[in-house]
Amino acid sequence: MQKITVQTRPIDAQKPGTSGLRKKTHVFMGPHYLENYVQAIFDGIGGVAGKRLVLGGDGRYFNDRAAQVILRMAAAQGAAGVIVGVNALLSTPAASHLIRLRGTDGGLILSASHNPGGPEGDFGLKYNTPNGGPAPENVTDRIFAATQTVSQYTILEAHDLDLTRPGTTALGEMTVEILDPVADYAALMETLFDFDAIRALFASGFTMRFDAMHAVTGPYAHAILEGMLGAAPGTVVNGTPSPDFGGGHPDPNPIWAKDLVDRMMAPDAPDFGAASDGDGDRNMIMGRGVYVGPSDSLALLTAHAHRAPGYARGLKGVARSMPTSGAVDRVAAALGMACYETPTGWKFFGNLLDAGRATLCGEESAGTGSDHVREKDGLWAVLLWLNILADTRASMADLLAGHWRRYGRNYYSRHDYEDVAADRANALYDGLRARLGSLAGQTFGALTVASADEFAYDDPVDGSHSAAQGLRIGFTSGGRVVFRLSGTGTVGATLRVYLEEVETDPARLDRDAQEALADVIAAAEAIAGIKAHTGREAPDVIT
Ligand code: G1P
Ligand code: ZN
Repeated sequence: MQKITVQTRPIDAQKPGTSGLRKKTHVFMGPHYLENYVQAIFDGIGGVAGKRLVLGGDGRYFNDRAAQVILRMAAAQGAAGVIVGVNALLSTPAASHLIRLRGTDGGLILSASHNPGGPEGDFGLKYNTPNGGPAPENVTDRIFAATQTVSQYTILEAHDLDLTRPGTTALGEMTVEILDPVADYAALMETLFDFDAIRALFASGFTMRFDAMHAVTGPYAHAILEGMLGAAPGTVVNGTPSPDFGGGHPDPNPIWAKDLVDRMMAPDAPDFGAASDGDGDRNMIMGRGVYVGPSDSLALLTAHAHRAPGYARGLKGVARSMPTSGAVDRVAAALGMACYETPTGWKFFGNLLDAGRATLCGEESAGTGSDHVREKDGLWAVLLWLNILADTRASMADLLAGHWRRYGRNYYSRHDYEDVAADRANALYDGLRARLGSLAGQTFGALTVASADEFAYDDPVDGSHSAAQGLRIGFTSGGRVVFRLSGTGTVGATLRVYLEEVETDPARLDRDAQEALADVIAAAEAIAGIKAHTGREAPDVIT
């Protein structure tokens, strides 16, 4: 096996976004594209000589090829060992767990999360640090800087490794441990949840449908739900990972998981429904006849977490991303626990989890998780819900209604305008930012602005400052609108408009969210001129 040095030149715009580098698959497959970025990661973390890494991905198109390249580059550059999932598969939370469990120097995760896969779809790569979490900004800044100076990389000339079976092998001087991607993760779940109680729930006739969306959670859900917990065979659907996710869009929300929504809204629906995304860190939660929005899910999980053995001693605190609704804040206040508001992106939760300030975290974008790993975790959320259902034996609809009666309801919706020309999106955003200072006191339709600012975050643990994290406008009604530009898109700009209104009148807790938000939606349009700027009559995606 020969080590070769390949001359290269910096490639434009290899800038990690909200969650690693995401690009069109064909861009990632272009000459030197992957290799340059891997080299930049290695350089950005001070080289890989003598280090151990975890490697795996969501199985999307190019996952297998990229894994072989990364292994050969790591071997050429003196890495001591790489732990890789069979067929280079690892869900994002399972990768995070392995990094922590095995004490490695971090890991590389191949995924573009919920974005479609395939030759025409998206691909992505991110580096997670030794705490198991996404690299914080100081690390991604170093990686980006390295992409701008990279001039060569070294790689081993070797045949592909056979990754189809567990076992330990060598690549040059480097040890490669190939392991079952599910086993360690399943063992961790067993320490957190009352598997006996959940087994008893299923044994009592409780029914569930889990839609793995042809993505990485299929094997995990089969093993844990049907295998260990005794859910009926067929509970897990679309459970075989495919390189293009069955031609679908593996994003667990009411738009892309419509089949699950339709089944859960039918009269003969199962008791519980859930879905997860491409790499297994997101979740969608439903009951018969009810959809539980991610912000509400976080609030209910916080209120009931003590029912699961792993959280029986209570939570140290909770954290939510700024655009996530304030529903969890109400629970935290009632329980007398700290509630942190962070910028969008899981990496901002890492310090709070590491420092023991927060136990549960969540984002409105279908992400919930806890301090068991340093990523959001789709199946974990499903299992915590199952544990709560096993303990309360209540229906999802009753749990949700009871929660709203007790805490009030934060009506919530996100409107996305996708693939907007970047200059148009920037004009809206920059124009609004310039007017923020003059908005307070102004009335737009039925609502009066109480506050308007650009969100910035001072990390209470390491003191780091993150500026320009979204524009937020609060109304005297308690409602709110937030404007953000997505940091994960691969085409044009995506404008996200987050809408929220608080309702405490018991007679008005059961309304359609878009109706309940009509005044906030109208005020958002009046304030920002969304239609005129984007040229769109309506959002592309409403969640
Ligand atoms: C989106 C979500 C964000 C999430 C991220 C990675 O980022 O909004 O909450 O952490 O994906 O899954 P965005 O595209 O908004 O930058
Ligand atoms: Zn994901």
